[in-house]
Amino acid sequence: MFDHAQSSHFHATEHTPDHRSMKTTVALAPGDGIGPEITEAVCRILEAAKAPVAFAPITLGEQSYLAGTNSGIDSAAWETIRAHRVLLKGPITTPQGRGYKSVNVTLRKALGLFANVRPCQSYAPWVNTHHPDMDLIIVRENEEDTYAGIEHQQTQEVTQCLKLISRPGTERLIRYGFELAKAQGRKKVHCFTKDNIMKLTDGLFHRVFDEVAKDYPEIEADHLIIDIGTALLADQPERFDLIIAPNLYGDIISDVAAQISGSVGLGGSANLGCDFAMFEAVHGSAPDIAGKDIANPSGLLFASLDMLRYLGHGVIAANIQRAWQQTLADGWHTADLCMNAQADKALGTQAFADAIINRLNAGPSSSIANAWVWPDPASIALKPSEPVEKTLLGVDVFIEFDDLGRDPDQLGQRIEAITEDLSLDLKLITNRGVKVYPDGFPETTCTDHWRCRFRRADDQAVTHRQILDVLARFEAAGLDFIKTEHLYAFGGQPQFSMGQGE
Ligand code: NAI
Repeated sequence: MFDHAQSSHFHATEHTPDHRSMKTTVALAPGDGIGPEITEAVCRILEAAKAPVAFAPITLGEQSYLAGTNSGIDSAAWETIRAHRVLLKGPITTPQGRGYKSVNVTLRKALGLFANVRPCQSYAPWVNTHHPDMDLIIVRENEEDTYAGIEHQQTQEVTQCLKLISRPGTERLIRYGFELAKAQGRKKVHCFTKDNIMKLTDGLFHRVFDEVAKDYPEIEADHLIIDIGTALLADQPERFDLIIAPNLYGDIISDVAAQISGSVGLGGSANLGCDFAMFEAVHGSAPDIAGKDIANPSGLLFASLDMLRYLGHGVIAANIQRAWQQTLADGWHTADLCMNAQADKALGTQAFADAIINRLNAGPSSSIANAWVWPDPASIALKPSEPVEKTLLGVDVFIEFDDLGRDPDQLGQRIEAITEDLSLDLKLITNRGVKVYPDGFPETTCTDHWRCRFRRADDQAVTHRQILDVLARFEAAGLDFIKTEHLYAFGGQPQFSMGQGE
């Protein structure tokens, strides 16, 4: 078990205990939508259970955006989070408009919360589910992938989102996943990616998974393509013990897993880094039911129980969990849960919290997972890797072009004409990744976004100067180059997607 007090990064005093009451103060953000009502319910339960925690309230999200902070987190909120290092957070609405950053994503990245751990189990027979035997943990990468949020509109017709997957970010997360599996006695770890399509980004994630798995021979390791993986998870979740996934896939499959366990309102989530921890529900701010006193507080409650265990109060967490379970065993539930013949016993959010409070210290004696057997994120060490030789092999010049009837042959001939005396050759043109020149199909639909690949005829190394010469010709010809991507080999191996015929 991760001994909080022993960790070099998590000395108890860093969590600002109130010395009169010996309570640990944590930052508390009620959030938006249903956030305030489920937070109130959770805080009342923690208080009734005498959890030794005090809260330093902060405002994140909508109120902060309305006050003019585009990030949704003002400096006072940052200060409080940094002072207490543990945050219990209600769900936050991310406004759809441009210019607003997701508070959730910003917090996870700014605080280095690299692992998002989402346990998901069935509560049968009390909660109706087709999957009474499901009991799995999803470990979601939390800082990278398309969630880097680097997006651009490049042409009239085309937008782009960068998907960034790094080796150290991936290795740290995957090692944490295997350490968690080991600590929890899990037998099988799956990795979900789409590396049949994204061979470099998802390919790296899968490769690092295979490398790290070798260090844990006692744990069965397997990889599934995300589409069939999600289908199997939705149909037979009991096949899975622990799943490690990049950010976007992990986000999606954890909602799927929470929903099929009975309700998305049941999922709790721990965001863990070396210096900070943030606990929240899996679900969002549910504006459709906000203010109606019908939201299920269980997801945030489970997150708060993980927070208590993290702070070393596992016995109190177990007491609350027993009371929650007894409440369901007695047939009481929130409206989102479909119960076995107990539909008449639906309660509102606060009444459900009262029902749990009434059952504190009087739950069933059956043993409930009490131990917080999670590894210390700061204990994860990466294997040192030597840099390999990097060679520049060419350039992809992306242009916006909406002339000549978007005829790829005419465009290709024009570019060849303006660059024919240069030392780099036009190798091919693609449109949305499909080769259209030379020898494209007339049936291929073309947008105004073209990738023109230049390399030396003998495929040998090129210089930055040669690339600048190509760009100068584009400029002189009035061709709007909207971005360039350099083509590199690492350790002698080309590391860029290849066009057909290359
Ligand atoms: P959502 O998870 O808020 O709601 C999806 C559906 O589940 C809705 O029908 C809702 O009523 C229901 N639901 C969610 N939580 C529930 C609960 N505790 N009890 C009963 N029913 C519940 O997802 P949605 O509608 O896509 O997102 C709403 C907002 O939340 C968006 O602004 C989104 O960006 C944000 N969001 C925030 C997250 C966070 O703070 N970590 C996570 C996911 C979304």
